[in-house]
Parts: sequence; structure tokens; C-alpha cells
Amino acid sequence: MLIIDGKKVSLDLKNELKASVDNYRAQTGKVPGLTVIIVGQDPASQVYVRSKAKTCKEIGMISSVIEMPADTTEEHLLNTIKDLNNDPAVHGILVQQPLPKQIDEFAVTLAIDPSKDVDGFHPENLGRLVMGHLDKCFVSCTPYGILELLGRYNIETKGKHCVVVGRSNIVGKPMANLMLQKLEATNCTVTICHSATKNIPFYTQQADILIAAIGKAGFITADMVKPGAVVIDVGINRIEDASTKNGYRLVGDVDYDGVSAVASAMTPVPGGVGPMTIAMLLKNTLQSFQRTNGL
Ligand code: GUN
Repeated sequence: MLIIDGKKVSLDLKNELKASVDNYRAQTGKVPGLTVIIVGQDPASQVYVRSKAKTCKEIGMISSVIEMPADTTEEHLLNTIKDLNNDPAVHGILVQQPLPKQIDEFAVTLAIDPSKDVDGFHPENLGRLVMGHLDKCFVSCTPYGILELLGRYNIETKGKHCVVVGRSNIVGKPMANLMLQKLEATNCTVTICHSATKNIPFYTQQADILIAAIGKAGFITADMVKPGAVVIDVGINRIEDASTKNGYRLVGDVDYDGVSAVASAMTPVPGGVGPMTIAMLLKNTLQSFQRTNGL
């Protein structure tokens, strides 16, 4: 079985991005800038935000993190976004989710200038993706990272049956719509399963490419997978493990040991889709910089 190594691909990609940033710095004296806003103290979000900022600096981009207390008002957050929309040194704006309950996430998504929405969450970007204008939008980072993995591993997709399990706005919906497009690493027949789907195994057993984005540890078991399928695991679930230093470990939505005996190729957790997500965020930020500067 082929292990689809997201860690390695993300390192290659980061090296390519760094070379581009170095080149643009020499050419124009300018570099891309990403601002990340985090509201409150959610531990997982803090880890992600720190990691995003660190990777940004590693490849020579300017990164800033705005930390706001958990009781921040929606109005204050929206005003901050407005300032960032008008700041020419900021090419990407990302507001880490989830947000505290007094803040309407959709209002925040709508407030970000679509041309700086490197998360690809704004309806204008999602709408352009659905219409197939990938060169004129931002594709949300996790689905974009999966597309990059399929492409770099030359996974055959044309005419294949892709089953996406999960219908979130961040992963499932953009992923399914991407796989539907007539592109090199897509062009599939697509099925989406979700929490109300009756008999999920009936669908997953027909998948040539199975993308699991459910958020439940080990949900996809070997009996649900067609022999030879390509399995992409988007899940990052913490499960208790007393033998580790922090008392937990990360597992995916796929039962790795069981499914790896059936699949032809598979992404591990950690080290599969996860590292690609940050790399694609930086790729989107670079793309925003290129578009702004006509490069
Ligand atoms: N929370 C979990 N994943 C993401 C992401 O990709 N973007 C944002 N903004 N918040 C998240």
C-alpha cells in the first residue's frame, strides 16, 4: 500500500513557496503578509494559529497574530477586519474558527474582503469554486491540499467514483465540488454522505476515492472500503492514551490498521492531510500577493 506522505509534499511545497517569496523580495522589495485573528483561548486553535505564524515566518512572509479576549464583541472584531481589508501590507486575513457564541461566524466571513479571504470561506470564493473558476478564487485550504496530494501522487481521478463523507462548509462541500470539476486531479462522479445518510457503507464500498471528513475517530472501517481504493483521511481526533506524554494521541476518521490492508493508497494521521492545510494557506497568501501586485 502506498502511503501518501503529506509531510514530505508539504515540505517540498514550502521550499517552492520560499523560493518564490525570496524572488519577489529581490524583484519588488515586498513580501506577502498574513494576519491571523484568534478570539479566546481554545487550546487546539492556539496550536493551529502558532503553527500558521511559525510556518509563515519560515518561508519569509510577514505574519502577525491578533489575539482577542473571549468576551470580544462582534462589532470590535468586524471593525478590526475592516482595518485589515484597507491595509495594503496585508494580503491574507484569517479568523480562526470556532468563534465564541456572541459572534456570528457568517457575519465575520462576509466582512472579509474576498480578495484577502485566503481561507476561501467567503461565498464569493466558494461560488467561484463551484463554477469552476479556480484561478479567480481562493480554494479552502484542506480540500486544496488534498487536490495537491492527488496531483503530486498522480492518482487517477478521471471518471472515478469519489465518495466524500461529511458536508461541512470548510471541507465536505468544497471538496465534493472540486472533485466534480473538469480538472486534472478531479473529473469524478461524486457522492456526498452525511449524518442523515442511510446505510453509509453502501456508498463508501463503491468509492474508488474515499474522502473521510466526519470528525469521528476510526469511523471508516475495512469492511466499508472497496479493495484497491484510495483513502484520504481528513480527521484529526484526540483520543485518550495514558502511555503518551500529554495523555492523548491524534487519530483520523479512518481505522488505519484495518483499512491499510484493503486500500491501494492512503494518507496517515498525523502526517497526511494536516501538514498540507497550512502549506496551502501560504500558497493562497502568495497568490493574493501576486494578484494584488500584478505578478
Ligand atoms: N478552524 C479549523 N480549521 C480552520 C481553518 O482552516 N480556517 C479557520 N479560519 N479556522 C479553522
